[in-house]
Amino acid sequence: MTHPMHPLAPLPSIKLKIGTIILAAVGITIVVFWAGTKIGIWPSVSGIVAGICALVITRYLAHGLTSPLREMSEATAAMARGDYGRRVTATSKDEIGQLAASFNQMAGELDATERMRRDLIANVSHELRTPITALQAVLENMIDGVEPADPETMRTMLAQVERLGRLVAQLLDLSRLESGSMPLDRQPFEIEAVLEHAAREARLHSPDAIVSVNVEPDGLTADADPERLHQVVANLLENALRYTPIAGTVELRASRSADGVTIEVSDEGPGIPDDQVPRIFERFYRADAARSSQDGGAGLGLAIAQWIVDLHGGEIHPERREPHGCRMVVTLPGSRTATAVREPVHPGGT
Ligand SMILES: Nc1ncnc2c1ncn2[C@@H]1O[C@H](COP(=O)(O)OP(=O)(O)OP(=O)(O)O)[C@@H](O)[C@H]1O
Ligand SMILES: [Mg+2]
Repeated sequence: MTHPMHPLAPLPSIKLKIGTIILAAVGITIVVFWAGTKIGIWPSVSGIVAGICALVITRYLAHGLTSPLREMSEATAAMARGDYGRRVTATSKDEIGQLAASFNQMAGELDATERMRRDLIANVSHELRTPITALQAVLENMIDGVEPADPETMRTMLAQVERLGRLVAQLLDLSRLESGSMPLDRQPFEIEAVLEHAAREARLHSPDAIVSVNVEPDGLTADADPERLHQVVANLLENALRYTPIAGTVELRASRSADGVTIEVSDEGPGIPDDQVPRIFERFYRADAARSSQDGGAGLGLAIAQWIVDLHGGEIHPERREPHGCRMVVTLPGSRTATAVREPVHPGGT
């Protein structure tokens, strides 16, 4: 629907528009009254005619001033009913036009948030349903006597229950991170300990892979929440190990950067295709849906990692490795070397 341009639309402010309306009303009154008396109509009659003309022109001109406000109140009512698709016409250049433009922007953002919420519920339900359906099928078969309750079947069921538990824990983490109810316990700590801890856990899960830890300079200290940082490293390491070929090498590196520390997790896998890079941090996004869902990943690991890094005021991004592979780079602000913390240098002696 196109709206005809209102004659006052180009004026840049409400004050100017009201001034113009008053001028027009006064002008038309004078002209009509003067013309009436000129052609010999009674002054009272031409006065009434002049008044009516002034009212008509005021109504016509003021309509353009108030119609966006009426539209906005209708759209607000529609939003309250859950219809976020409504937009208002924002053609005028005055304050109301600006308000209409902000209103449209807000409506767009609410629309996007609402869509995200719906997607989230759909994704969560889908991810929960898959293991539950599998469990239900096996249990039904066991009750019907089709499948024996042997240790192998029990292990399959345990794997599904673990998958459910992990998903629920991840969702809980995400919701705590997003709502801000998981405050950071920031403290200086040696990065090497955290990296070694994550590497030890990874070696337990993937005994074939080679996980190396390299911290430069020795005793490099980060100013962060060690438990949350461990979570970031563990998530990145899990991905790296999933994509690195059997007996491949995964490297954990930490070094000092311009304004803090840089932690890198590098693998020898296929890497992340350029067109997928902007999306991998989204909740439930899997670049390679078939493979990851079969491995049990829901696509939450990187979303959690990014939240934690953001809370620290840091940055996380993937880089391409030559000839192939992926390097996840995390930069955290604030660092020092442990030696400098433990043994302060006193130039003047003690
Ligand atoms: N090192 C990597 N090499 C190649 N692709 C990767 C790598 N890390 C992440 N990706 C891609 O990014 C997607 C999102 O990763 P993310 O860790 O968020 O989810 P996930 O590992 O699939 O599931 P979850 O971590 O919840 O178990 C992965 O599905 C994968 O396609
Ligand atoms: Mg992952």
